[in-house]
Amino acid sequence: MTHPLRIGIWALVHGNRAALRDPEEPYDASWRRNRALVLEAEALGYDCVLVAQHTMNPHRTDLGQLEAWTASAALAAETRRIEIIAAIKPMLYHPVVLAKMALQIEEISGGRFAINLVNAWNRKEIEDAGLVFREHDERYAYGAEWLSLVERLMRGEEVRHEGRFFQVRDYVLRPGAATRPRPRIYVGGESPPARDLVAAQADVWFINGQPLENVEALIADVRARPRWGEPVRFGLSTFVIARETAEEAQAEYRRLLALAAEDSDIKDYVKANTDPAVAMRKTQAKYESVGTNGGTSAGTVGSYRQVAERLRQFHDLGIDTLLTQFQPFEREMRRFAEHVMPLLRRGG
Ligand SMILES: Cc1cc2nc3c(=O)[nH]c(=O)nc-3n(C[C@H](O)[C@H](O)[C@H](O)COP(=O)(O)O)c2cc1C
Repeated sequence: MTHPLRIGIWALVHGNRAALRDPEEPYDASWRRNRALVLEAEALGYDCVLVAQHTMNPHRTDLGQLEAWTASAALAAETRRIEIIAAIKPMLYHPVVLAKMALQIEEISGGRFAINLVNAWNRKEIEDAGLVFREHDERYAYGAEWLSLVERLMRGEEVRHEGRFFQVRDYVLRPGAATRPRPRIYVGGESPPARDLVAAQADVWFINGQPLENVEALIADVRARPRWGEPVRFGLSTFVIARETAEEAQAEYRRLLALAAEDSDIKDYVKANTDPAVAMRKTQAKYESVGTNGGTSAGTVGSYRQVAERLRQFHDLGIDTLLTQFQPFEREMRRFAEHVMPLLRRGG
């Protein structure tokens, strides 16, 4: 079954997505800006917002950082239609506490809340807090047990669990979700254990931006893994540069690429803190691009028609949620809504 294409945005939890020193987009990761951004996105017709979770700014410790869960609760109260997806790193919250928070935001939002489980790459963020940063596959073992508990608790089940990482006795959370069995579960991550986790427990897999043929192969890989229940759905992150002509889009791409090169100190800092085992870094290193999580590697730099055509190709592969990044964000988000969204609608 093909679902209609939904378009989402990344909230600006740590400011600019492509380059931090852009005169056209001064650094701003404040609540005030993010609130206005999400309200405008909703009014423009965007379907969802991902609020990424980082406790400490991953680029520079002196820069501000939006807190994902408190901000998501406030966004839930202020918006009416848009889906709010809050990222969660399992090692930061006990599953009982997190499931309770998720159900509360589900109620505040009137059934528009979702979690995005991510298994972390920033060793410094976890270890400097005195928490345990397990090795890559161990993080997935922990995350899988954690998510199985959160899923059952969000569904309102009374949970008794004796596991490797958690022991829970007859725990039940009320009220449960009012309008559906539970909040939606996304997973972001690309390694083989991430794909097992997606097949076993996720509703939607968020894939890092990359060329069509890679995405096609990744979708086939996950569809081939053991799963029960509804088929898994697929989302893709992508940084968009769309203009009237392809030449104008390429010129803007080169502007951002040159600016991103000025952030080499930040890239070195991020690299030093990144677990070398994570798949995301390896994917990102393969292609020249701007933006995070694959950035423009999915080929979304071009004329309005070219970008719409590329997004349609991803939809044909089975991607039904696109998570867009822009810079400067507000201006380009408006441009996309004005010039690309109508082409997508016209094409069905
Ligand atoms: C759509 C998407 C969103 C992500 N959001 C976050 C986030 O909010 N916080 C974070 O620390 N990592 C985030 N990540 C990165 C994951 O933590 C990262 O992919 C992790 O290393 C998983 O390992 P793997 O890719 O090796 O499976 C995200 C990844 C994707 C694809």
